[in-house]
Amino acid sequence: MRERKTARFRNRRSFLRGSVATIIAAPVVAKGLPSLAAQPVESGTVRTLRSAAQTERAAYSRYMAFARRADAEGYVGISYLFIALATSEIIHAQNYERLLTRLGADITPHEPSVAPVADTKQNLIAAAEAELNSINNYYPQVHKQIEAGGNADAITNVRYSWESHRQHIEILDKIREYTPDYFEEVARRIDEESGIFYVCEICGSTTNTVPTGKCEICNFPVDHYRKIDPSTFLSQSTP
Ligand SMILES: [Fe+2]
Ligand SMILES: [Fe+2]
Repeated sequence: MRERKTARFRNRRSFLRGSVATIIAAPVVAKGLPSLAAQPVESGTVRTLRSAAQTERAAYSRYMAFARRADAEGYVGISYLFIALATSEIIHAQNYERLLTRLGADITPHEPSVAPVADTKQNLIAAAEAELNSINNYYPQVHKQIEAGGNADAITNVRYSWESHRQHIEILDKIREYTPDYFEEVARRIDEESGIFYVCEICGSTTNTVPTGKCEICNFPVDHYRKIDPSTFLSQSTP
């Protein structure tokens, strides 16, 4: 059984290719959308957006803590991966907060609860499970609630978040499957194959190369993509 799993792992030469490039990001209020001032505000929409903003901020704080721990343990590639994920999350949070402000909603300052930080192996597994839960359970529910409210900007922002999270699903599945038994090999491959991460500041899309043409998620020009430099993130305070 273990031998078969090992062989499968070795055979997956494209373990991180393609999708690790996407292991970051999240959304912003779409530019050019009509003013919301005259639109009715659905209280359910505001509640859902506020909850989503807090969830994204909490994820940002958690991944930054994981990144610092990985850096301290010498797992540079994993640290960079967590920074990429955190970058995406804070873009999503800020998108929701900007939209809530435009809707006239009070944004109560939210101090995310301090999530436990374990060793990097456990943090990597926890992050993969959390991201997959977000993709498969949390965002489908949020999307349903927001669609019922009918606010176009809210629907757009939730789509940005959900789709940018879904960019990572392939690599997250592999991380979750192989990290428990082959953590060092997973860490080595992330080190060797992650490359450089770029994030779209509009939608949080995260890729290993800047796309050509327009962003595939938000459709804005790709000059909204910026390179993620880990040195500027590990030392900064929460945006
Ligand atoms: Fe997110
Ligand atoms: Fe984008």
